[in-house]
Amino acid sequence: MKTPVEVIEIKKRGENIAQRDLEDFLAGYMQGSVADYQMSAFLMAACIKGLSEEEVVTITSCIKESGNCRPKENFGKPVIDKHSTGGVGDKPTIVLLPLLASMGVLVPTLAGRGLGHTGGTVDKLEAIPGLKQQYSWADAQKLLERNGAAFLTQSDDIARLDKRLYALRDVTGTVDSIGLITSSILGKKLSEELDGLVLDVKYGSGAFMPTYEDAQSLASLLMKVSTFMGTEAKVLLTDMNEPLGEWAGNGVEVMEALMMLRGKAVERRFYEVTISLAEAMYQLAFPTDSRNVRERLVARLQSGKAYEKFLDIITAQGVAKETADNLDEILAPPELIGVVRSDRAGYVSEVNAHALGTLLIKMGAGRRVLSDGIDHKPGLRFLKKRGDKVDSGEALMEVYASKEIELPHISEIYTITDEDVKLPPYVNSLEKS
Ligand code: URA
Repeated sequence: MKTPVEVIEIKKRGENIAQRDLEDFLAGYMQGSVADYQMSAFLMAACIKGLSEEEVVTITSCIKESGNCRPKENFGKPVIDKHSTGGVGDKPTIVLLPLLASMGVLVPTLAGRGLGHTGGTVDKLEAIPGLKQQYSWADAQKLLERNGAAFLTQSDDIARLDKRLYALRDVTGTVDSIGLITSSILGKKLSEELDGLVLDVKYGSGAFMPTYEDAQSLASLLMKVSTFMGTEAKVLLTDMNEPLGEWAGNGVEVMEALMMLRGKAVERRFYEVTISLAEAMYQLAFPTDSRNVRERLVARLQSGKAYEKFLDIITAQGVAKETADNLDEILAPPELIGVVRSDRAGYVSEVNAHALGTLLIKMGAGRRVLSDGIDHKPGLRFLKKRGDKVDSGEALMEVYASKEIELPHISEIYTITDEDVKLPPYVNSLEKS
């Protein structure tokens, strides 16, 4: 059996770690014989030297096996989930879960906290007081039987290894590895015992994969490992070169998602990405029922049924009725403390979404070290997005925060050009790319 240092050194040299040695190393981490600092060194070596497909499959299996799997009782429904590789303002999960559950799909979503400069669904939903998201599978099944969906996360019973690795990667600069992202996502998702999985692979300044080509490599690996491990997956590649939607933060993103769930108008790209993901999930769930899927999804939102389902889900997960009745007030942003304005006339051609994610961390909406708590209130509101025409002095972004912060200079975030810009499509499928 190799010592932890030997395993780290194999990866440092860029060599393949034998399956048994990698399994022992990961088990040692769970049992306490491999320390956090040794795991951090391994993760950094994996980021820099890469992981082989065999290593990714081993880590994925170890994450899946580090907790229990969902009991296979499906209550007569297809079991489908969706996962995003992470971005800024990335909130579709909050809409998709109740929307699909309201249409007869079982959606046992295991989501994560903020990772690196990106936000996490679990942190966002914690803005709702009382909402419990850590369950055992036995208890989660009761929620699923009752409502067809549950907002869940890694726990002592579910994907325990990912719970620890995820938190460590968040604060050690070891997120942006194709192999680590693949094993983290699939290790937990496959413990849900799914019939199908939709993957939203993001590319651009706010994603972990800056270029479209990197995102394609991540998408291919996700598809390959998921298929190898027996779960059908469908990939959409979506643009993350600017935050998704009008708001980024925690509570403010839930507020924006609730607007969509209530059938109200929301920012175009957020709407399109979410509806496309919903269509993909529905098609995996009911492959022979392809008539007017989009129209039926939209009708569910407009009828209020999807929002009713959201309320059923959160109240089953510990939220008091009084809280559920007052979400708008609870999720409202704090004080407006500053506005970023354009310093010239032209068109918004680029937005540095990574810088915006980092700004949110500085505002308290994300973590710098493992033990950091989160402020769920702060938020950024985007008044102008790529392709918009702006005048000199016009407001581009509003900053809402609980404490004073130094506002970034406009040049750190926005590029304004004379020429209008051609925007990429909202959504690409892996086959078309
Ligand atoms: N989402 C995850 O669950 N894990 C990652 O590593 C990245 C995104």
